[in-house]
Amino acid sequence: MQRISRRTVLKGGLAMAAAFTTHGCATTSGGRDLIGFRPVPKPTIPARMPIISPDYEYQTLIPWGTPLAPNGPPYNHPPTAADQALQVGIGHDGMAFFSTSEDGKQGLLAINHEFGRNRHLLGLDAPTTLAQVRTSQHAHGASIIAIKKTGDRWESIASPANRRIHANTPMSFSGPVAGHALLKNQADNTPKGTFANCSNGRTPWGTYLTCEENFNLYFSTSSSFAPDAVQARYGLSARGAGYDWHKHDPRFDLNNPAFKNESHRFGWVVEIDPNDHSSNPIKRTALGRFKHEGAAVAEGRDGRIVTYMGDDQRFEFIYKFVSKDNWQKMRANGQSPFDDGTLYVARFDDGGSGEWIPLTMSDPRLKARFSDQAEILTFARIAGTIVGATPMDRSEWTSVAPNGWVYCTLTNNSRRETTDAANPVAPNRNGHIIRWRDSDDHLGTSFRWDIFLVADNHYESEEGFGSPDGLWADPDGRVFIMTDGQQPNGMNNQLLVADSMTGKIARLLIGVPACEVTGLTTTPDRTTLFVNIQHPGYGDPMLTNFPAPSDGVTVPRDCTLAIRRIDGGIVGS
Ligand code: FEO
Ligand code: CA
Ligand code: CA
Ligand code: CA
Repeated sequence: MQRISRRTVLKGGLAMAAAFTTHGCATTSGGRDLIGFRPVPKPTIPARMPIISPDYEYQTLIPWGTPLAPNGPPYNHPPTAADQALQVGIGHDGMAFFSTSEDGKQGLLAINHEFGRNRHLLGLDAPTTLAQVRTSQHAHGASIIAIKKTGDRWESIASPANRRIHANTPMSFSGPVAGHALLKNQADNTPKGTFANCSNGRTPWGTYLTCEENFNLYFSTSSSFAPDAVQARYGLSARGAGYDWHKHDPRFDLNNPAFKNESHRFGWVVEIDPNDHSSNPIKRTALGRFKHEGAAVAEGRDGRIVTYMGDDQRFEFIYKFVSKDNWQKMRANGQSPFDDGTLYVARFDDGGSGEWIPLTMSDPRLKARFSDQAEILTFARIAGTIVGATPMDRSEWTSVAPNGWVYCTLTNNSRRETTDAANPVAPNRNGHIIRWRDSDDHLGTSFRWDIFLVADNHYESEEGFGSPDGLWADPDGRVFIMTDGQQPNGMNNQLLVADSMTGKIARLLIGVPACEVTGLTTTPDRTTLFVNIQHPGYGDPMLTNFPAPSDGVTVPRDCTLAIRRIDGGIVGS
């Protein structure tokens, strides 16, 4: 397709409907409006509770601290470390619903617990004991929890699959970096834990992918620490972010020689089998180490598996991984499709073309800098710079539409001074959404791209929003957008639906004060949409008490919303 010129983009926002139809955007609408619901109007004052379209309703589900077993420890604030390991974690983020019944009314919810600030989680500015650090560690990671719908209501239920995975859960490594010296420590060579689990993915073989994002914030030191260039590129510093795990757990002390390589064990995509309670989560090193946002999986025409991944930091890159062979064949041979394949990084060129550059030792520029493939993967950011990847405005979620378009939110970049074709706003306060279509059904090394929308162009209008983050392209041509950042009129973060055919945007839901709206997944029939209210009020009961009714006292809790159209229709319609 013709790339929409920057000027058109800035003036018109969404690309023209005609441009979409020529590419055969899959739609069942037959010209009908994909978005039929009455949108939530722009509020005049920020609300303390969620506001949803009058055509929809929501219920709350699995708030932080929900016991995994019906007779498990009930929620108390702050939780003990032992209790927290048996309860739903904090910081609800990316998630996926795996149906376990024919009718889709029962299933496993796999959900990430990205982070919880000390004040919210512990009621303290910083942990002062190892027990408190353990509480914090056990609140991070992921949960697998069975849920069931009775009538129109969902609730969590007992299941042998229910489990918590957290910062101390035993992990396995696989792929090119497994067993490499870069992952070895003098002390404690059993890899443990996942945290900073942001967005996610799911595979055609029924597993869940949880992606480690801001892992650097959990490492720190009390003595002076001068990061080398590579450590600095990965954000490791003595400052940390106030979690203070390092003060009580030497694994997280950057100056402890016994745990010299501990930080190399994070920043990966982790595969979890939601059905096998006893399986170790597996860190898939072939997918590279960076601040992974999500992993959007597609299947190429010959059954090779493709994964698109953003790295959420200013001026970092977008990647894709392509498996070596047909995924069914590889699995039948006892291999994981994620253990053998090629990692590519994206270069967006002027004129709407782009190139996926392989990050391998066959590139002489990489061979000159790295000693082996494991090193390239562990320091993928450095490799991306060497091969000339395009620095982006904070790539957040990616989503693959069934018609082949891959959408990616670029949330904002206050530090952008010079624009390029793919990042056309400087400074980029409100973000944009880019999309591309690879040659050869996700398998090719070239692609065509355009800007799907620029948030600035909508900001002052009725459907205004900023900082797009969570994203889902549904099978009909709708693009669901979740926000994390400053919104017009001081509005809380929100969930909107865009029609990729017409450019229409409508607001479905507004969250509560100081929350992020994130983590969308649906039932297979798309009559229930699950979405997360992350860090409501950042834990401040003066801002909100959600999901409890407003009382000014109760500590708010991260929770999931189950949203349905009151008439039982497809969500987003
Ligand atoms: Fe975890 Fe980039 O949001
Ligand atoms: Ca987040
Ligand atoms: Ca996010
Ligand atoms: Ca964000």
